[in-house]
Amino acid sequence: MALELGVEHGQLVRGREVYMAHCNECHDRIPPGEMDPESWRGILPHMAVNAELTTTEEEEVLLYLMAAHGTVHGADLEH
Ligand code: HEC
Repeated sequence: MALELGVEHGQLVRGREVYMAHCNECHDRIPPGEMDPESWRGILPHMAVNAELTTTEEEEVLLYLMAAHGTVHGADLEH
């Protein structure tokens, strides 16, 4: 999927790093598979403001969440 969409591996790696670093500051990390993609698109802009992400970081986190969605189950996320 990543290649089809023209997403670079580095973007996903950075997105995961941002997610791991910032998305458990106020609550436990919400695993990518816990919300459907539309819900993620709705909530992430709000959470990006909470986490004070740059626009680029927000995009990379969204790419990571979309890429991980359906391939990563909650319990597997920390691998
Ligand atoms: C400054 C604190 C803060 C940070 C940082 C933060 N969140 Fe949140 N998050 C909240 C609060 C408060 C709520 C619940 C109320 C709301 O929706 O604003 C929430 C709710 C959520 C929900 C909805 C959960 C549900 O069951 O409806 C998701 C998903 C989420 N956050 C993901 C993230 C992600 C991804 C990041 C990293 C980009 C992040 N959050 C960073 C404070 C934060």
